[in-house]
Amino acid sequence: VRAEAATTSTLTFEELQRVRDTADHWPKGYSRQIVARWGDALFTDSPAFDIASLDGKAAERQFGYNNDFTQFLPLPQGSMTADHGLMVVSHEYATPYLMFPGLTVEDYREKLSENQIRALMGCLGVSVFEVKKTGKEWKVLDSQYNRRVHMSTEMDISGPAAGDDRLKTKADPTGRKVFGTISNCNGGITPWGTMLSGEEGAMDVFAGDYKTLPNQELVERQGWDEDENDIYSVSRVEPRFKFEEEPNEWMRFDWVVEIDPFDPEAKPVKRTSLGRMTHEGAQVTVAPDGRVVVFMGDDDDFEYLYRFVTRDPWNPNDRAANKNLLDEGTLSVAKFSSDGTMTWLPLVAGSGPLTAEAGFATQADVALNTRAAADLVGATPMDAPEGFVPHHGTGKLYVAMTENEDRLVAGGGDERETVNVANPRGPNPHGHLLELVPPGAPDKPDHAADTFKWDVFVLCGDPAKAEDEAMFNPGTSASGWFTDPDNLGVDPAGRLWVTTDGPPPEGIADSMYVMDTEGPGRALPKLFYIAPVGSECCSPTFTPDGTNVFVSIQHPGELRLSDNEDATAIADAGTAWPDFAADMPARPSLIVITRDDKGIVGN
Ligand code: FEO
Ligand code: CA
Ligand code: CA
Ligand code: CA
Repeated sequence: VRAEAATTSTLTFEELQRVRDTADHWPKGYSRQIVARWGDALFTDSPAFDIASLDGKAAERQFGYNNDFTQFLPLPQGSMTADHGLMVVSHEYATPYLMFPGLTVEDYREKLSENQIRALMGCLGVSVFEVKKTGKEWKVLDSQYNRRVHMSTEMDISGPAAGDDRLKTKADPTGRKVFGTISNCNGGITPWGTMLSGEEGAMDVFAGDYKTLPNQELVERQGWDEDENDIYSVSRVEPRFKFEEEPNEWMRFDWVVEIDPFDPEAKPVKRTSLGRMTHEGAQVTVAPDGRVVVFMGDDDDFEYLYRFVTRDPWNPNDRAANKNLLDEGTLSVAKFSSDGTMTWLPLVAGSGPLTAEAGFATQADVALNTRAAADLVGATPMDAPEGFVPHHGTGKLYVAMTENEDRLVAGGGDERETVNVANPRGPNPHGHLLELVPPGAPDKPDHAADTFKWDVFVLCGDPAKAEDEAMFNPGTSASGWFTDPDNLGVDPAGRLWVTTDGPPPEGIADSMYVMDTEGPGRALPKLFYIAPVGSECCSPTFTPDGTNVFVSIQHPGELRLSDNEDATAIADAGTAWPDFAADMPARPSLIVITRDDKGIVGN
């Protein structure tokens, strides 16, 4: 099987053998470098990383925790430079009891000091910094672009819900200004070089009794979980994070935030036109007529795939003209059919079932209660959709459904939770990838069209186990199949990279795989990188020449026994990666992998 795999794919690196340990692993003939670790300096005046004295001021000057979305943007902007650029990186969440000594999962909420809470608030959000490669080594430079966005950064709210009464607070009676961004998961980059960051589930940061809130249904739909709230104790230092103090603050999160990495003075903007949900990412492409198209997954069981198409085309000759382009356009949601087509159903207030009587009198209602609007138009409930990436060569799109243990077999009950054409296995513990094909592909793919074609690309699981019902290329090796796909990337040569976010089967670590999407190596993944135990790898991104692959290593040492168990099921899996130094905790880090002969990674 191994020999066959080697001859039928464009990927010629020597595939790794599976291993699960405290270190990470990459192919023979390649090198791995740590580019930035949690706590590393981003500015000349950044304090040295010192866990004992870490506070908000220090954290806001350092690389943050649990890096997720990662993108290399060449400098000068828009060039093909492969050794100099900006890195934009999001920091999704923090795990206090793995960060600070003396805390446990049971007692950390009470024991966190005010300085530690401020440090948590400072180490989340987004990092922007300049990087340069000299010889073989990437270095972080202090530069005019370097910037930290965190849980206190002032930002604007724009689009249909801006100024709505439901977004007003004591600190912001206008409903147009918010402090901070939370749960920044994956994202995307616009054609004009701004970053879109998906806020994915901010509810767990809030404290108090949610039953005191005016809109119970919305709270519950947005993923309220009694056992997973107040996770950083921030309401102790900022009362706005307590429902009783500020009943609207929670509505000001779970948006897509636009941040301009090329202008450190520009305020980030929450774009309400893109809807409110558990935003995993926001991958961007351009339709033939120049309109900008954003693809988004709502990462919860039985939630939906969304698309936003701008009203106007973007202007490649005047960057400033695109500043508010994302405020006007059409949000829609995906419905899959058994005839191999899928339709994007518009979510427009006053149109179809989205009537005033149904609660959708204005587009602000759609923006603030997007999931309920999608229910009404009849969208297809998916198995926790995450990565969603357009392929620059073929125009096709790939979407990852991570897994859904609660998907019911046919005849199992609730129709919404029962298997459907696009989510065919119940339960679905291993996840799958879909392939979407817009009209006009490959030459002139129209990503703004109403109807696409679609197919199942991969059903994850172990091909050797009949009960997994896995579907990969038959040449896939015993190390090459995977489960729990999360982020997707396409390299300059057109190959699809997949990173996984467990819980993987016994003995397997979350890893990074790569495969062709066309030809004999189609859907034939090979194991390229194994992350240290407890971590997921996120968001593979490449230099334009394909010789460097950057990837974020998130939550090393955190063992999640099952996505369905609560926080007490999380235990220290015991790695001190990447430093392996006394008194130094495991540190989430951005890494880069290159070929020792400077060739294209994967070849
Ligand atoms: Fe943050 Fe959907 O993973
Ligand atoms: Ca994650
Ligand atoms: Ca993710
Ligand atoms: Ca995930």
